[in-house]
Amino acid sequence: MTSAGRVEVFADAKALADAAAAMVAAEISASIDARGRCVMALAGGATPRATYQRLAAHRDVDWERVHVVWGDERCVPADHPASNYRMAREALLDQVPIPATNVHRLHGEAPPPFEAIRYDAVLHGLLGTSPLDLVILGLGADGHTASLFPDAAPFEPGPWVRPVVFDDARGARLTMTETLLDAARVVMFLAPGAEKASILSRVIGDGGEGGDWPARRIATRAADVRWLVDREARPQPS
Ligand code: 6PG
Repeated sequence: MTSAGRVEVFADAKALADAAAAMVAAEISASIDARGRCVMALAGGATPRATYQRLAAHRDVDWERVHVVWGDERCVPADHPASNYRMAREALLDQVPIPATNVHRLHGEAPPPFEAIRYDAVLHGLLGTSPLDLVILGLGADGHTASLFPDAAPFEPGPWVRPVVFDDARGARLTMTETLLDAARVVMFLAPGAEKASILSRVIGDGGEGGDWPARRIATRAADVRWLVDREARPQPS
């Protein structure tokens, strides 16, 4: 256990994806047992695809009671190769009997400022005064998570969704803010691979206290944080 959550180390990315899928399925069922539903925020990028594919094979999940939202989205159409929605649809949503009305897509094709307002309202309508039940997040090599980047000023508390626009390859994105993510009941970070080792050591290792990364802020504020890493990524003692 660290000040930034519980770390579980798996042999490799495949073992991590197996365990992550089982953990997500268990958390979904626990949320449904406790509250009658599970509102789950999905991560984008490449890492979660393997977990989503394995999650689709968990036939014990009551998808009728699961609502899916996105922690962030690139401002591209839903069928664009970079779309986080497209990745989740292909890997998971097309493979499970989740009602279409339970899939709350971030409209990457819409003007970002307007979509941030719309999605903020969608989330408030869905959640009311309740937190997200489960959030899946990745970790960028620069310590970003969702589309909260260390070189962008932290958002003022308040809105749950913000547009972020970069003049580099990152482009325009929409992201949940720390206001919403910090309050989630369970946060799972998926971070396998040697390329994550350095940032993991800084974000959750002994030296983490010195850094101010979005992933670390969320990990030190949320109530129940689990880091799923593999041996290649394991934080090295500083
Ligand atoms: C995105 C993700 C982003 C991702 C990290 C890690 O839209 O890209 O939300 O936060 O989780 O960049 O990406 P990988 O899993 O591809 O390493």
